Amino acid sequence: MERIGNCRLILGDSFDVLPKLCKVDAIITDPPYNYDLLNFDWNSKDIKRNIGSGMITHVPYNNVLGGARDDKWYKRLSKFDKKFYDKLKQFVQLADAIMSEGAFLVQFSDHKSTGFVQASHKRYLYIKDSLVWIRSSGPARGRPASRDVEGLPDEYRTTITNMWESIIVSQTRIIGNTPDVYKRTGLGYVNTRPNGELVTNIFYDKKTKYDKFDHVSVKPLTLMCKLVQMYCPVNRIVLDPFMGTGTTGVACVEHNRKFIGIERDRNNFDIACDRINDAINNQRKKLW
Ligand SMILES: C[S@@+](CC[C@H](N)C(=O)[O-])C[C@H]1O[C@@H](n2cnc3c(N)ncnc32)[C@H](O)[C@@H]1O
Repeated sequence: MERIGNCRLILGDSFDVLPKLCKVDAIITDPPYNYDLLNFDWNSKDIKRNIGSGMITHVPYNNVLGGARDDKWYKRLSKFDKKFYDKLKQFVQLADAIMSEGAFLVQFSDHKSTGFVQASHKRYLYIKDSLVWIRSSGPARGRPASRDVEGLPDEYRTTITNMWESIIVSQTRIIGNTPDVYKRTGLGYVNTRPNGELVTNIFYDKKTKYDKFDHVSVKPLTLMCKLVQMYCPVNRIVLDPFMGTGTTGVACVEHNRKFIGIERDRNNFDIACDRINDAINNQRKKLW
């Protein structure tokens, strides 16, 4: 474990680490989305291998099992889905056990997996919202028909470009009303004006050159800063059990929240440690 300022970064598997953690005041996280072949075992080696082999050219556009479809193909897909859903349920159950009363679980997913995430939250928590993050656009995706069918032009493809991701927000089951919970725990309300500006449930934050690291799914820091301010009060603890390159942690440093991050990929973990260290040094420079 690395202790950097008010942050605790743990190199390990969340499913082993979560049962050993203290109570936290919010969980803000971006776990693997079940891109068929990547399943829940999303790590930089898998992704690089799949990108290299052409199975995935740009996550999250080309998520295919490969091969022609038949009963066997759909059965294989169902198996992947079941494994993914079981893993999600296991995660939400472990998360619920360490969330303070009134705390929020804020979880990213994509256009294809959001239903699974909602269903897993419903088992243990109370769903409060589905936020939409509009990603930057890319060229039309899917295989062009012109490669396989004579006479069909390039604009006919197997699918269209996806431009959004969902962020499911749920709360622990509470006893009484929100003011009661707030009196007991200081939690339960959402700050609707992060950075002073009123937000809705649609976000347009774009990645900048500062959000580019050796990882396929780095989230824009501006978006993570809003979520941290909205769903966790100042000086309380945010957990990100699928920390990746540590964007949630950097947002916590910038907005005075304590942070616990878990990541099992050494490469991503090292990037997260460096980024959080830099963020703390930048904050110090601002103060002095
Ligand atoms: C979608 S990425 C998160 C990216 C992050 N939002 C960022 O901005 O860098 C998911 C991360 O979860 C990690 N991961 C997957 N399964 C894990 C597990 N069981 N325990 C800990 N980390 C895991 C992966 O290595 C990956 O870096």
